[in-house]
Amino acid sequence: MIIGKSKKDLEKMRAAGRLAGEVREALRRMARPGITTLELDAAAERMIRDAGALPTFKGYHKYPYSICASVNEQVVHGFPSNYELRDGDILSVDVGATLNGWVGDTATTVPIGDTVPESWLALIRVTEECLERAIRECWPGKHLGDIGWAVQEHAERHGYTVVREYVGHGIGRKMHEDPQVPNYGKPGTGAKLRAGYVIAIEPMVNMGTEKTKTLKDGWTVVTLDGRPSAHVEHTVAITEEGPEVLTRVSDSGADRAGSAEAEAAAVSKV
Ligand code: MF3
Ligand code: CO
Ligand code: CO
Repeated sequence: MIIGKSKKDLEKMRAAGRLAGEVREALRRMARPGITTLELDAAAERMIRDAGALPTFKGYHKYPYSICASVNEQVVHGFPSNYELRDGDILSVDVGATLNGWVGDTATTVPIGDTVPESWLALIRVTEECLERAIRECWPGKHLGDIGWAVQEHAERHGYTVVREYVGHGIGRKMHEDPQVPNYGKPGTGAKLRAGYVIAIEPMVNMGTEKTKTLKDGWTVVTLDGRPSAHVEHTVAITEEGPEVLTRVSDSGADRAGSAEAEAAAVSKV
């Protein structure tokens, strides 16, 4: 059952989405060679709690951390760890914040340092384009298949594959609501979008095979062939006026060279 959101609900989701987006951008700026993904996790948890919100992921089906940190061939659900990010890595960070009972869910893939190969940067760029194309489909009367097709068509045109085993989702008071939002599909098929629906769209795009496996930790999803994967996500409301991206925040406000503390202080004022 798809739960439509009222104007009032949307206002609260806007605040949750904005916070999740601010934390995502702070993590993007902190993600540099030498920092551990556990340090990013701690910073994210502090920013979220300081803003009066809860880290949505922590305890979700016993997930132990506040963010997912997935490096290189890791697709999604990577555990933060003592791994120090290295020049040439790509890192997907996924953040969830529950503010006043409403959830925002967002992710981005960040190149670390300046030796990431051009072909990996292209993978990230195309994955971001897939998300933007999918967002443009978010009008009342369009179908879920239009969203999936927008992602799939663009990714495959560039020679990449889309992950099938994990999908986007409706979102509201719970992180995962109906409907499922696949990154593949046929135009004009699937559930019809209505004003008041809010969905998390999250393309997972692989350079090689679309097949994945889960590591022994029970969470970390990696590509079967070990080639890199990119993942980006926005929480998007469907309105009569078209798509409203609740997790979109500008990257310009905060000091790019700021310390973790400065980032946390900036975010807690949101
Ligand atoms: N945020 C992920 C998603 O986009 C889900 C994370 S699962 C959790 O759907 F256990 F880490 F919370
Ligand atoms: Co997410
Ligand atoms: Co999600």
